Amino acid sequence: MDILTTADELAQWRRTGQGTVGLVPTMGNLHAGHMALVDTAAARCDRVIVSVFVNPLQFGPDEDLDSYPRTFDADRDALANKRVDAIFAPSVEQIYPNGMTHQTTVRVMGVSEILCGSRRPAHFKGVATIVTKLFNLVRPDAAFFGEKDYQQLMVIRRMVEDLCMGVEIVGVPTVREADGLARSSRNQYLTANERRQAASLSAALRDCAEQLAAGHRDFRSLEARGWARLVDAGFDPDYFEIRGADLAPAEPAMKRFRVLAAAHIGRARLIDNIGV
Ligand code: PAF
Repeated sequence: MDILTTADELAQWRRTGQGTVGLVPTMGNLHAGHMALVDTAAARCDRVIVSVFVNPLQFGPDEDLDSYPRTFDADRDALANKRVDAIFAPSVEQIYPNGMTHQTTVRVMGVSEILCGSRRPAHFKGVATIVTKLFNLVRPDAAFFGEKDYQQLMVIRRMVEDLCMGVEIVGVPTVREADGLARSSRNQYLTANERRQAASLSAALRDCAEQLAAGHRDFRSLEARGWARLVDAGFDPDYFEIRGADLAPAEPAMKRFRVLAAAHIGRARLIDNIGV
């Protein structure tokens, strides 16, 4: 497994190999959710490259950029046991050679502005920009993203379509703990007590999804019930929303829905979603 840290090394790696290339973009601190992305990429592509880069551009001024867990040695060891051909782990200077203040950015209209986008105004601009840079550097045939960040997946799909990027975007189902909590690097911010309470997030989403599957269509009251359940469990919710599978506002005639929530508990802001 090659460890690449510069654009030149990456270009050289890209030139020498053969076959299709699958990219798994990550911010490191790898867990079972990332490993599911890697396994899916390995099953579909001849060569797999995992990027490890904590992208400052997608963090807001009061967010956890400085404390975000950076565990490169453990990440490298975990990937060495997988069918991964290379890790691309650039420095901030490699990715943003002209600094970030006047950085050219990519803004995906509409789908970036709802849900997490309305609470974290520059977040998806940062994500779309780094993913564009990674696509330009790696030139992958396919890229793999977790459904846990469902809105991010929709933003990237839209960006690839709008900008004719020609990269296949593959969504991979969320990996959960035994009690339903979605795997996330930010789960480690939880105290033991908060960790117990955190399972209520997926339980509230599941309950709402079951109601929708049973034919209930009073979206506002289902959302209010989900919200109340989060508050009862000690969360401070940002949103609990029912939407169409493409994140359009929910309508009774729709066949497929997505229930999404974001909520704070202790130091952590957790997000999760479930499809119906
Ligand atoms: O999902 C993530 O870990 C990040 O948002 C991504 C896609 C690697 C971009 O920094």
